[in-house]
Amino acid sequence: MQPEAIQIRPMGEDQLAAVLAVQAACYPPAMREPADVVLARLRAAPATTLVACAGDAVCAYLFAYPSLLGSVTALEAPFMPAARPDTLYLHDLAVAPRALGRGLARRLAQHLLDAAAGEGLRHAALVSVQDTRRFWEGLGFEADAGRAPCAALATYPGHALYMTRRLPASSAA
Ligand SMILES: CC(C)(COP(=O)(O)OP(=O)(O)OC[C@H]1O[C@@H](n2cnc3c(N)ncnc32)[C@H](O)[C@@H]1OP(=O)(O)O)[C@@H](O)C(=O)NCCC(=O)NCCS
Repeated sequence: MQPEAIQIRPMGEDQLAAVLAVQAACYPPAMREPADVVLARLRAAPATTLVACAGDAVCAYLFAYPSLLGSVTALEAPFMPAARPDTLYLHDLAVAPRALGRGLARRLAQHLLDAAAGEGLRHAALVSVQDTRRFWEGLGFEADAGRAPCAALATYPGHALYMTRRLPASSAA
């Protein structure tokens, strides 16, 4: 699989089963979110829900939505896009085992970070799980533990760390 052969595009509802298969390969059962929740998130935030595909095969996905700094989506909670967002909230980024280590995760995240900066959002935020802190630091995020509500973080099994970064000011915004 050549990295350049992989296309990033908005997720379609017909890709739900493939996205759930990637989720199942990437997370333990206690962290997998049900199909109805995942579909509702796609419908709530279609512009910020991406897949990376090799042909028709889904290799990776990213679910995000416009939110507010300090707001955390609990596990299995619906997306509630903010009316006046200041933050791109990255909820779930996952790469199928067969496609790991080819820069796909960085490409997906950078795609939405660039778009959010272009739309004038000032921050990006996420909850790091499964020992991914250093991956997110590579994308400019820093731990911002004090800002996030403990109850939402506590819904994630294992160590969950709220991380944030500033987005560059856009001349277009
Ligand atoms: C985390 C994940 C998305 C990374 O996917 P990937 O395809 O390996 O990432 P990339 O190839 O884009 O890696 C970009 C860089 O991050 C590094 N990196 C990747 N995973 C890392 C990790 N867990 N810890 C530290 N660095 C990591 C890579 O080495 C690469 O660095 P380099 O450019 O200096 O070589 C993938 O491991 C995954 O799907 N994990 C399971 C789901 C998950 O936990 N998602 C995160 C939820 S917060």
